[in-house]
Order: sequence, then C-alpha cells, then structure tokens
Amino acid sequence: EQQNKELKERLLQLKKERNAIILAHYYQRDEIQEVADFRGDSFLLAQKAAETDADVIVFCGVHFMGESAKILAPNKTVIIPDERAGCPMADMVNVDGLRKLKAEHPNATVVTYINSSADIKAETDICCTSANAVKVIQSLDTDEIIWVPDKNLGDYVSKFTDKKMIIWEGYCNTHDMLTVKDVEEMKAKHPNAQFVVHPECRPEVVKLGDFVGSTTAIIKYCKESDCQEFIVGTEDGTGYQLRLDSPGKQFHFATKFLVCPNMKVNNLKKLVKCLETMQPEIYVPEDIAEKARLSLERMLLVK
Ligand code: 13P
Ligand code: SF4
Repeated sequence: EQQNKELKERLLQLKKERNAIILAHYYQRDEIQEVADFRGDSFLLAQKAAETDADVIVFCGVHFMGESAKILAPNKTVIIPDERAGCPMADMVNVDGLRKLKAEHPNATVVTYINSSADIKAETDICCTSANAVKVIQSLDTDEIIWVPDKNLGDYVSKFTDKKMIIWEGYCNTHDMLTVKDVEEMKAKHPNAQFVVHPECRPEVVKLGDFVGSTTAIIKYCKESDCQEFIVGTEDGTGYQLRLDSPGKQFHFATKFLVCPNMKVNNLKKLVKCLETMQPEIYVPEDIAEKARLSLERMLLVK
C-alpha cells in the first residue's frame, strides 16, 4: 500500500517532467487503469494517440497498440512498460502468407484488424477495430475482402455484408477459450443476467449474446441498460470500468479464464520504471510506417 502510494507520487512527478500522457487499455491491471489519463478500447486509444499534444505517449496495452500509436504520432516518443507484452493473435499472420493471398485475389480489398503488426498493416488497405469493423466493411466499394487475422470477428462481421470475405484463421487465445457450455452454466446460475460478449469469441458463443460489441460498447450498454446483472464475455480487466460506471450492478465473468496473460505483463512498477528510463521505446521503420499509416488513417476517417 505504502509502496503503491510512493510509486503513484513518482509517476505524477515523472509525467510532468516528461510531458507524458498515459493510455491504458481496459484489459490492463486495475493499478494501471487507476493512474491512466485515458482508459479505452483499441479504437479510442488509437484516436487519443493521434490527437495528443504531449511529447511522450506511454502505452499500457500490448505491443501492436504501442506500434499503432507510434505510426499515428511519428514525432512523439512512444514507450511501453514491458516489450514482452505481445498479442498471439497478431503473430498468427505473416507477410508472406498475406502477400500470397493478395496474389490469389488481386481485386480484393485487404481489411486488417488493428491487432496486427506494422508489417501487416503496411500490406493493408484499411484497418478496423472491433468497435468499427462493421462500419469499415460497409464503407468499402468492393465485392471481395481479404480479412486478417481474426476468424471469429470475421465471421461476426460477415453477417452484416453481402461481400465475399476471405477470412484468415487467426484467433485470440483468451476469448476463443470461452465455450457454449461455460455460458450455459453461468446462465443457469444467474437466470436474470444478460450475456454481453466480445466478437473475438467463437461464433456459437457470440450467438448467445444479448449484446455483442467492443469493450467500450459493452461498458456503455451495461451502464445504460435497465438490467441489473450481467454475464461478461470478455477479458476480466474490463471489470474495472464496468464497476466504476455501474456501481450498483452485478458483473459475473463467464469463466475465470478470461484473462489475457500478455495484457497482465504490465504493472505499476514497470510503468514508473519505463517513464524513468524512457525504455523500452517503440520504433517502426519509416518505409513501413508510411504505408501502415495510410491504412490506420483511412480507418479513422470512417464515420
Ligand atoms: P477492443 O479494444 O477493440 O475491444 O479489442 C479487444 C482486444 O482484444 C484488444 O486486444
Ligand atoms: Fe491479443 Fe486477445 Fe490479449 Fe487482446 S485479449 S491482446 S486479442 S491475446
């Protein structure tokens, strides 16, 4: 407790000295979300990175998020608490494989989930997040789409379009673990609860949702709904904002396994240390960044 207090004081001081802004994804540990300037889903945090006038962005999330921030704000210094915080889904697609698919479907538009590396974004026409995936697809004037890397989100989005979708076989290890049986057991235990679910879950699980959306959309839905009790089908860090926004309501995570180990690699101590040492810093080669930037900026323009 005393140590946390000291760390927080040191953090405030360093933030001022460096003119830094702290961005934290909803899946971060509570101790990080508590001290963030902005908490959000991938979309909101990418927007904040693009808009900020701070000199330093401290991105508390996973590696691709820091990379996207650097691509959108190339003149800022972007640091992260621990470079080992990766995203296994982002690593499931590689440049050679994507190029091969593009060669096989030369007329297809490449739509890439923001959960991907800068190299993949550089091979992409437009990015999306779970918050805007349907809008992005519907904004495209094309008959054929190459979709990477999340097959579950791809399946969800394909229900909202007649376009042909060629879907990569990636998935999020954390969300993909949730099963129909898990949800049914929870529903039996909490018969008055609504099930809110992230579209990174398996299609048959998403189908059971009373509401489907990104983390921000789930938090907003629970706050505004008349329902008082929810079974939550997304990563457990989301509980922090859910409880803050809806203090009187009950939230039951659908299993105790909805924890992304990569997101939890970061902690308050590492956050303070990275601002102290200004390491690890994110670099993206300029030729890659330039191409990747186009795909992210196109996404930010979709209304
Ligand atoms: P959102 O931030 O779009 O809800 O996505 C969840 C996720 O898995 C981020 O890694
Ligand atoms: Fe990647 Fe899933 Fe963790 Fe998000 S929750 S960072 S998609 S592994």
